[in-house]
Amino acid sequence: MTKKAKPDINHLVSMETLDIDTINYLMDEADNFLKKTLSKEHILDTLKGKVVAVLFYESSTRSRNSFVIAAKRLSAITINPDMNLSAILKGESLLDTIHTFEAMGVDLFAIRHPDNNAAQFVASELNGPASIVNAGDGDNQHPTQALLDLMTIRQYKSQFNDLTVAIVGDISHSRVARSLIAGLKIMGTTQIHLIAPPDLAPEDAESLGVKVFNNFEEGLSSADVVVALRIQKERMQEAQLPDFEKYHNEFGLTAERLALAKSDAIVMHPGPMNRGVEIDSNVADGPQSVILQQVQNGIAMRMAVMETLLI
Ligand code: CP
Repeated sequence: MTKKAKPDINHLVSMETLDIDTINYLMDEADNFLKKTLSKEHILDTLKGKVVAVLFYESSTRSRNSFVIAAKRLSAITINPDMNLSAILKGESLLDTIHTFEAMGVDLFAIRHPDNNAAQFVASELNGPASIVNAGDGDNQHPTQALLDLMTIRQYKSQFNDLTVAIVGDISHSRVARSLIAGLKIMGTTQIHLIAPPDLAPEDAESLGVKVFNNFEEGLSSADVVVALRIQKERMQEAQLPDFEKYHNEFGLTAERLALAKSDAIVMHPGPMNRGVEIDSNVADGPQSVILQQVQNGIAMRMAVMETLLI
């Protein structure tokens, strides 16, 4: 098989900037990195001498640490400062921080920020040729999560055209949902079902080209992939927060509800999970769950993204 041409991209700020060839290329590269890691080939020299800055202005367990591991596996000089101890406490702006790190020779920034379009803004204001990877901006985009989710779906389902993907939970505040919907559409998935209470369903569902359901019977029937989402408490006012017990009774992914989907449906969750709220433990840890595979794929996908942007 001939190797596909490397896509010519400098930044990854939104799934909407990608095309099907670029996504396929990144999934192929990530699968190769995963095979290398699984065969104990842990450290590669690809990014030797490059400097990667992982700057997180919001909490994270998976993305932050997987960017660091991915950069180190490719031999990049990697910094991951605690932003709560940085000069932002003295009033330094995001842009001054970025320009300072650029002056130190940073080649790639992975940035998580609570403001929508923060990564896009930084990418447009750089002094030099550094690359920006959006590691999550507000409720807008989380493209590396969408890419690792697509990689996971491809591993289990082999294709995207003839799939029904159901996304369950707080969709209106979810950058994961927004990015995944964009990615699925690029890959050719037309049956995208959103299952959410009316106040947590996206207002722009029609323009997103998805179907919204507020019950599981219709939404989950014939689903091949079920993605459960956390309630994004940090993006809600106190008054908006649902009663979690009531929410679980109406919208929690239980084993009984999962049985409405196809018997070989896979269960995904980007994490962190609130067990007993949006998902039950016997589903999260059950035979259909691929949640920890998503985590493993996250490192391989971030290796693929960083290598593609920097080499
Ligand atoms: N999926 C995800 O973004 O998780 P973290 O917030 O732990 O990075």
